[in-house]
Amino acid sequence: MPEIFVAKAGDITDGDRRIVRTPKGEIGVFNHKGAFHAYANNCVHSGGPACEGILVNKVVDIIADDKTYQGQTFSDVMHFVCPWHGYEFDIETGICAGNSKLKIKKFETVVRGGDLYLVA
Ligand code: FES
Repeated sequence: MPEIFVAKAGDITDGDRRIVRTPKGEIGVFNHKGAFHAYANNCVHSGGPACEGILVNKVVDIIADDKTYQGQTFSDVMHFVCPWHGYEFDIETGICAGNSKLKIKKFETVVRGGDLYLVA
């Protein structure tokens, strides 16, 4: 598999991203808590630029011991949100929050000599 230079790894800080044009289409590369995650910038819903959307923590229900609903809060799981229709994807897996059968194509990354590459 060919490797495509993305950037100096240190130039993409936690919470930052780059969109890279490749022969396989645009790929979004995120730095999340010091780890790089790369996905096709092509939403599985209708082809929107999913990797260009906002980052937001997953919303979870608060359920008490007696099983009553107590409201909602944010979890530690980070999502990126497709700007076209709001589908949310786990930044570490690419799995859609609303339908676990939907997953954005993931690509490998490698850091060598301080440089970040996509394997695509
Ligand atoms: S194209 Fe991404 S949510 Fe519809």
